[in-house]
Amino acid sequence: MNFAIIYTVIILLLGIPFFITNFARIIPIGVKIFLFVAAISLLWLHTIFFRLKGRTGVIAIILLIIFYFLIYIIILPMGAGSAVLSILDREKNIPAETIGSDDSTEQIYIVYHPGMSEFTTKVLRVLAEDIAQNNYKVILYSAGKDLQINLQDARAIGFASPVYAGFIRPPLEDFIQRNELSGIECFVILTGGGKESIDVDTAKAAKLIEEKDGKIIGKEKFITSDKENELQEKIKLFSKELIEKL
Ligand SMILES: Cc1cc2nc3c(=O)[nH]c(=O)nc-3n(C[C@H](O)[C@H](O)[C@H](O)COP(=O)(O)O)c2cc1C
Repeated sequence: MNFAIIYTVIILLLGIPFFITNFARIIPIGVKIFLFVAAISLLWLHTIFFRLKGRTGVIAIILLIIFYFLIYIIILPMGAGSAVLSILDREKNIPAETIGSDDSTEQIYIVYHPGMSEFTTKVLRVLAEDIAQNNYKVILYSAGKDLQINLQDARAIGFASPVYAGFIRPPLEDFIQRNELSGIECFVILTGGGKESIDVDTAKAAKLIEEKDGKIIGKEKFITSDKENELQEKIKLFSKELIEKL
């Protein structure tokens, strides 16, 4: 009985990151509830069969094996992963950064999530400098719940984020979702380690923007393992593509 009570408490504690963190929202609520109800039911059914049949009861053993599988292979890694990612996703207080001349009449905004390393910010600065050479002023805004900018003031808006587990970071997604992008030209800049998922990741991010009626004029994902000269070349090519469409 103590075993069941202790595990019930552990399952409920695991539920905290699982249900409240930003990252875990990509798991449908029905799936989360099912996993927790299944785990607690298996645990208590095991306890009942164990009491009835003792240590050798086959059903009690099978229920315990399924319970351990659910806890250690599914719920614990997902709960721990959600907790870690929500720590990584906490907002950083980064002031807006302007690249290009103040004399430029047209401005381009890039709203971004910086990620953990310098990679995303480095890509954005190089891209912004390339764009600025064409007489634009580029302003980089770190996405956060307090960020309020008039998107209509920009000639175009870039949305940039590292990809984690196939998704853009929640602070940027929240920013997209709480803004109206109707008639605004938008572009997507992703960074990530996975070359093979470039099309899927950029299409997924573009879809979020299109759902808010934004018009996609370009999308690209920059890969952390690319050689420096390849990366610079890819950024240059992307800025050229954007300038042509503006
Ligand atoms: C927890 C975690 C999950 C990640 N998932 C992906 C992924 O699904 N696809 C991908 O291309 N890169 C993935 N990456 C790599 C990051 O996108 C890459 O490091 C990023 O471009 C730079 O972000 P960072 O500054 O936060 O490291 C992941 C990185 C971390 C830490």
